Amino acid sequence: MSKKVKITIDGKVVEAAAGQKILWAALDNGIYIPHLCSIRENHYPFASCRLCFVEIEGYPGPVTACTEGAAEGMVISTRSERVDRLVRTGFEMIMSNHRTECRVCPKNRNCTLQKIARERGLKLKPARLERLDRNLPVDDTAGNILYDPNKCVLCGRCVWTCRHSGSGTLGFARRGFDRVVTTFMDAPLGESGCNGCTACTLACPVGALTVKG
Ligand code: FES
Repeated sequence: MSKKVKITIDGKVVEAAAGQKILWAALDNGIYIPHLCSIRENHYPFASCRLCFVEIEGYPGPVTACTEGAAEGMVISTRSERVDRLVRTGFEMIMSNHRTECRVCPKNRNCTLQKIARERGLKLKPARLERLDRNLPVDDTAGNILYDPNKCVLCGRCVWTCRHSGSGTLGFARRGFDRVVTTFMDAPLGESGCNGCTACTLACPVGALTVKG
């Protein structure tokens, strides 16, 4: 059994397993920290969404809660001027090329982007950054899965899940603005060896991978 430690998050003393990631310790105790890319079972967090910043007393700057392990006596703050600025900027960058069409999106009301916006008072259509639409084709070639890469936030949850409980079909390709979740040689999902398990649709925190209606 792992050793327990006491940590303080936003003034609340909570117990966590030593080394447990702060993100999960906070969420388990009803304290919300924005997060898109983390998976509890993944012991090697991607830390790609850059939304889960917290401040820890004695640390020179904010750190990601999904990568930082709990240690006895840690004093953590989920909100500060620096944290709020980082989260807001990260969220706005994600939203600047996310196809936001909530009213017709199958994930409407069950979307992590909507939750983050609600929890942190952020706009789903921020005006500060110029929109960078990708205009990629929607893939409806799989029997039961619809893939809209224009809504993908590149969190990697589907890739990890496909490797661990699916057919290992999904992966990342290309770099920078062109980075995309795709299949080997960009084959359409229906011709890619996807077994249609739909685990990726459950892992997707937004409306990029959904079960066909
Ligand atoms: S949840 Fe920590 S960086 Fe994405």
